[in-house]
Amino acid sequence: MDVGKLGSYTMRDKLRKVVRTLLRVPEKVDIAFYVQNLFWKYVLGVNRRVPWPVHFTSRVAAPEKVRLGRCSYPGDMPGCYIQAINGIIIGDECIFGPGVGLISANHDPENYDRHLPAPPIRIGNYCWVGMHAVILPGVELGDHTIVGAGSVVTQSFPEGYCVLAGNPARIIKRLSATPPRLSSDNTA
Ligand SMILES: CC(C)(COP(=O)(O)OP(=O)(O)OC[C@H]1O[C@@H](n2cnc3c(N)ncnc32)[C@H](O)[C@@H]1OP(=O)(O)O)[C@@H](O)C(=O)NCCC(=O)NCCS
Repeated sequence: MDVGKLGSYTMRDKLRKVVRTLLRVPEKVDIAFYVQNLFWKYVLGVNRRVPWPVHFTSRVAAPEKVRLGRCSYPGDMPGCYIQAINGIIIGDECIFGPGVGLISANHDPENYDRHLPAPPIRIGNYCWVGMHAVILPGVELGDHTIVGAGSVVTQSFPEGYCVLAGNPARIIKRLSATPPRLSSDNTA
């Protein structure tokens, strides 16, 4: 075993821990991504009102109506649109691919300047929303729901523990009723 290398890794880990604490980098968020995010938000004003880290190419409408659990950062990948006019509630440890859309309100078909009321989007714990999937107003997804790439979720699947895919999304697989194994914080 190369003890010198081990020692330097430990030092680096310690340094990372200090930087994470000083900059208050949220759990499971990469330090470099977080620093870039601060630049886009507070220097260039992109997504300034969004209190969690989001990619500079993503947009969040009505971020004050988003409620997030632990380690869930919708829009941290490129090209997402998170529209929370009717509210979005997300549980712990959810991941979202690039280009995901969470759309909580439709335009009024009689007047595009207005939005129609709907119940909030609710996403449980340990969910994974694949690349370019879209979740539409009022949808509720239970714990450990996986949404396949490019799917359009038009109805609720509150029981969770399933894989959804297609347009409109349907259950293609059931998952065991235990939460997935979650990695410990590996971005130290
Ligand atoms: C949903 C997903 C996880 C399912 O993977 P899987 O369990 O291995 O599924 P399978 O490949 O066995 O497919 C099962 C069936 O569902 C269909 N299917 C799978 N994913 C689909 C999708 N995204 N859209 C439509 N149909 C899909 C398959 O064609 C197959 O249909 P068949 O039984 O008629 O042949 C995977 O297909 C997927 O979409 N992953 C998203 C990856 C991604 O977005 N990553 C980047 C962001 S984090």
